[in-house]
Amino acid sequence: MSKIISLDTSYAGTLELPTQHAKQILTQIRKREIEGADLLGWLHLPHQSKETIEQIKAVAQQLRTSCSHIVCVGIGGSYIGARAIIEALSDAPFSNIEGGKAPILLYAGHNLDEEYLYQLLNLLEGTTFGIVYISKSGNTTEPAIAFRFLKQLLEKNVGKEKASELIVAVTDSKQGSLLKLAQKEGYTTFHIPKDVGGRFSVLSPVGLLPIAIAGYDIEDLLAGARLMEEQVGLEVDIEKNIAIHYACLRNVLYRGGKKVELLVAQTPRLHSLLEWWKQLFGESEGKNNQGLLPHSALFTTDLHSLGQWIQEGDPLLFETIIHIQESVKTLSIPSEREDIDQLNYLSDKSVSWVNQQAIEGTIMAHAHRGVPVLRINMLQINERSLGALIYFFQIAVTFSCYLLEVNPFDQPGVEEYKKNMFTLLGKPEYRE
Ligand code: PA5
Repeated sequence: MSKIISLDTSYAGTLELPTQHAKQILTQIRKREIEGADLLGWLHLPHQSKETIEQIKAVAQQLRTSCSHIVCVGIGGSYIGARAIIEALSDAPFSNIEGGKAPILLYAGHNLDEEYLYQLLNLLEGTTFGIVYISKSGNTTEPAIAFRFLKQLLEKNVGKEKASELIVAVTDSKQGSLLKLAQKEGYTTFHIPKDVGGRFSVLSPVGLLPIAIAGYDIEDLLAGARLMEEQVGLEVDIEKNIAIHYACLRNVLYRGGKKVELLVAQTPRLHSLLEWWKQLFGESEGKNNQGLLPHSALFTTDLHSLGQWIQEGDPLLFETIIHIQESVKTLSIPSEREDIDQLNYLSDKSVSWVNQQAIEGTIMAHAHRGVPVLRINMLQINERSLGALIYFFQIAVTFSCYLLEVNPFDQPGVEEYKKNMFTLLGKPEYRE
């Protein structure tokens, strides 16, 4: 059986991997005897109950039929995963949502830009829109501010009673302001499992609801994650586990002096997936003055900007390329009777073939210059392969963190900025 994802390390050089350490970590995780073990619930998300999936699909369908626009309100792990999958599968930037028939999906609460919010509210004035408000803590400032505006506008547009039917909350089952609000207003609510942290939650209702609203197959997404679990789950031996192998390679490259990992995609539709990966790895690994800086690039676009730096700048990075082997849509380059632009040598070749040659040439050039290159191969972009990729990276980041002896599932630095911000904002409980 061919693997849904494979890892090619032929341009990484010869490296001695911390396999023994990874084995110890695997044993500790299996026994749940490791810091952060209470937040390993994401491991089981691919096996969610049929009932939960059906509920998500039903609510998504109801919003799709009732609304012209749907706004997903959330930040960090409560936002970027869904957007990554939706954009990877959609025809953006030419159409927001598959077929152009479904409601337009928009995002809010992921920044504090007044003009963004102003323009969004302007756009939604007078429309029947839906709101999916996602926050595990239920107390995060950015989405809370956006939601307050959106709720008031929706109530003005359609009335309070109808508005409460068009608002869905995704939050913790026991605590937080969002839970209280949802209970008071009677919003449909999905719960985020207690043992699943924000950036590991894309395969829970946090990601599944927006993805279903956008019209994509969430069962296939989960099926892809399950296929990946067979390849990289905790039952798989270290020697065969490509996600642990990737984590070990990252670790040894880091210890050997590489400070940056550049994740590269060859299609702009993976732009938000690169952002999701940066959030997953950055927020998980950057602790105790350690961690690879996760950075990203889109080829071939960035070969005309960052390419020079990668080739001849400070050799502090290595690259990981998400290599999509087949394009879903094919375009062959046409020939011209007069070959003034001198492109006839490419006649009948597909654009994706040209893209592949550009990437191959780049990998060779970078490796020649001493930039190690890892390659994650996937056949095509679809729900299954994306579900698999998510699971792959979540396993990999967990081992990457434990190899650095940091807890993958907390974010103490983020808490510190929040504390300062609340003091400056004069939030009552932060006043001196
Ligand atoms: O990964 C994380 O835990 C964070 O990025 C959170 O998802 C983010 O801070 C949003 O938190 P919340 O869902 O509580 O609003």
